[in-house]
Amino acid sequence: MIYELSNLVTKTLITTLRDEKTQAIAFRHTIAELTKQLVYEASKELPIKQKTITTWQGQNSFDCLDEENIIVVTVLRAGMPMLDSVVELLPNCIAGFLAMKRDETTHESVLYYDRLPDCTDKTIILVDPMVATGGSMCDAIELIKSRNPSKIITLNIIGSPEGLKVVESSHTDVNIYISQVDERLNDDKYIIPGLGDAGDRSYNTPE
Ligand code: PRP
Ligand code: URA
Repeated sequence: MIYELSNLVTKTLITTLRDEKTQAIAFRHTIAELTKQLVYEASKELPIKQKTITTWQGQNSFDCLDEENIIVVTVLRAGMPMLDSVVELLPNCIAGFLAMKRDETTHESVLYYDRLPDCTDKTIILVDPMVATGGSMCDAIELIKSRNPSKIITLNIIGSPEGLKVVESSHTDVNIYISQVDERLNDDKYIIPGLGDAGDRSYNTPE
């Protein structure tokens, strides 16, 4: 299932990302804010546990997220500000890293680094701002699935209808939480209207 955030706060932040005047530091900050919204929306999918604490009225137990059984996996580079945002909200969750780069001729993703922790029986939050052709998401999901997690959800900022359809139909068991579904892909497989290259925009990399 695809869950798109449709509120006006989200749309305002997306407009900030699209603005070419938005500098790298503000770009990353905006990605981080959008990521927090996505975590709130997706939190119903995350494992919970009872935590016993001492309150002003003595011992009591309360619901809280079972952070030790949650792994946030980022896809470098553009996913880094999303990972930073999740680990700020869930400081005891575990982080995993995949590095992928789209070949800009074939448009296929190439994995060049894998530092996933043991995923067995864990809930995986996979974060990457852009779903263009969907190739990177599908490759990342397939790799994570081979490590036996209990569940995978994805958090994404902007996606194309074409790419999202590919991910959704290939992985019907993976729910996708996304800030904005855009119009289409162009011939170079960039999202339109999109925001350009999210990794370059985040880190001031010249084109
Ligand atoms: C971007 C983005 C995704 C991928 C999406 O990364 O962060 O990982 O493109 O494209 P796809 O859906 O067609 O696979 P990119 O390859 O540009 O690497 P970067 O993060 O290092 O800029
Ligand atoms: N990667 C990006 O960063 N942006 C796009 O529009 C497509 C792939």
